[in-house]
Amino acid sequence: MKMLKKITVLPGDGIGPEVIAQALKVLKAISQKYGHHWEIKEALIGACAIDITGDPFPDASLTACQEADAILMGAIGDPKYDNDPSAKVRPEQGLLRMRKSLGLYANIRPVKIYASLLHLSVFKPEILKDVDFVIYRELTGGIYFGEKVKEATFSSDLCLYHRYEVERITHLAFQQAMERRKKLTLVDKANVLETSRLWRSVVAEISRQYPEVALDFLYIDNAAMQVILNPSRFDVILCDNLFGDILSDEASVLSGSMGLLPSASKGEKSALYEPIHGSYPQAAGKDIANPLATILSVEMMMRDFDYIAEADDIISAVDQCISDGFLTEDLKPTIPVRCSQVGDKVVALILSIK
Ligand code: IPM
Ligand code: MG
Repeated sequence: MKMLKKITVLPGDGIGPEVIAQALKVLKAISQKYGHHWEIKEALIGACAIDITGDPFPDASLTACQEADAILMGAIGDPKYDNDPSAKVRPEQGLLRMRKSLGLYANIRPVKIYASLLHLSVFKPEILKDVDFVIYRELTGGIYFGEKVKEATFSSDLCLYHRYEVERITHLAFQQAMERRKKLTLVDKANVLETSRLWRSVVAEISRQYPEVALDFLYIDNAAMQVILNPSRFDVILCDNLFGDILSDEASVLSGSMGLLPSASKGEKSALYEPIHGSYPQAAGKDIANPLATILSVEMMMRDFDYIAEADDIISAVDQCISDGFLTEDLKPTIPVRCSQVGDKVVALILSIK
């Protein structure tokens, strides 16, 4: 069925605009092929928003996001803020405010391995064999959002979790496990942290409603090791905001490049799709960034719209592009191609699939 969807696009900083441009080509190809109509609105976030409006996530951007069926973001961040602890406004505040004000409490980061990239990996093929897991990271609570104190001689960040915040993402993670290999691992630090003990008891309680799912618990330090030693043991990983942030960057190394991993963030009303990588300022404007993570974020968007054929087309095109060795320089091919060439190739492949 032909449909109209409103998509708000936030290109952001650094390589954000370049990778978003490729994702927009893909959206256009999908609309051509399937007759969908996208109403696309662009809005500001991050350092570019500070430069223009003084605010990393201005009200106009919030409104544009609230009105959208889906939000597609590039990346935020600029080195001029990174080494300045005294900066009053920072691009990251825009991202955090967006997550909080749109209620995007569940961040979903799938990790998969492409057979044709195995030989490029620093890992032995037998470690990577059968790796296929997804991280459910809580995104609007914990130490990211607890009260912050800055005094002359000390600072503190409060890590606070309410039961309901743990419950709602736990249900999503169990539901996902039911559709996958029926394994769920809670990653925490329950030997030390009170919030982790809350997570453990809530997750154990909820697990009774999902008796088919095998639940286990790992401390974050051990989990960080297992992700590298034995990554195929994982199916669904559930964790709080900070542990999920760290573990998902670590897990991206398995796939060969951060430039391959998409994500979706969901809440009560809105859904946001974005690559897990940052703004990679050194590469900005050079047309060398890997656009596949952003293109695969569009794939997650299509699937959530229930556009299954459309999503499958994107997956097949990306698989083909990778197995043809049509790769940007982050994947260290003998002859790297450009960001825009990857976008064009994915488009051509989508249009050629019957
Ligand atoms: C991510 C990023 C953000 C986070 C930063 C940019 C604030 O690392 O989305 O993983 O820590 O959540
Ligand atoms: Mg991160």
